[in-house]
Amino acid sequence: MKTGFRSIVFGLTLVAFTACGGEDHDDAGHDDDAPAVAMASAPDTSGAAIWAHIQSSDYQNWNVWPGMTKLYQGNQPHGMLLTTYVNDVALAAIQSHAGTMPAGAVIVKENYMPDSTLAAVTTMFKVAGYNADHSDWFFTKHNPDGSLAAAPNGMALEGRLPGCQSCHMAKVDNDYLYTGSMTE
Ligand code: HEC
Repeated sequence: MKTGFRSIVFGLTLVAFTACGGEDHDDAGHDDDAPAVAMASAPDTSGAAIWAHIQSSDYQNWNVWPGMTKLYQGNQPHGMLLTTYVNDVALAAIQSHAGTMPAGAVIVKENYMPDSTLAAVTTMFKVAGYNADHSDWFFTKHNPDGSLAAAPNGMALEGRLPGCQSCHMAKVDNDYLYTGSMTE
């Protein structure tokens, strides 16, 4: 994780989070030298910004979702093989069984073809006040080159995406998340 850019907003969020019991996320093998306040500059809610953010913060060196491996078997609609990365904010929330993700949490899921070719990258980014009806998740889907994937109607897949929300809200009790429990 780069330490050069610190968002004051994210720092404050994390101070608040840590103060109310966020666990030290000193998990085995993750030798990040900075505490959980080290969030690279906060992206705005555009697909281009989140893509630039995850690239500049080197997301492929983030932790994978605890308990998951790289290239695990996925379900429709996401693809045969998935790798799901979480940033430090998201990791701390999972490890402390926080119930929901705090603002600043970023989840990046790579969808691979059966031959392990990267097919798409999806993200979920928690932004305070962004979308109260759907737990403040900002969604994106990218082609492997980072450009935004498009819905059948041509709409770029970034934002408050009904197609993503409608399925993910089946997990409303788990903050819209499928991959692992937020409470245990
Ligand atoms: C029909 C249901 C469905 C739709 C539609 C859907 N997802 Fe998912 N999503 C899942 C499931 C199921 C998982 C768990 C991984 C797996 O097994 O495939 C998942 C996992 C994820 C994850 C990893 C975090 C988590 O929830 O576990 C991200 C990120 C994600 N989806 C993004 C998106 C985006 C972005 C869209 C819209 C472009 C989308 N999803 C549309 C069902 C769906």
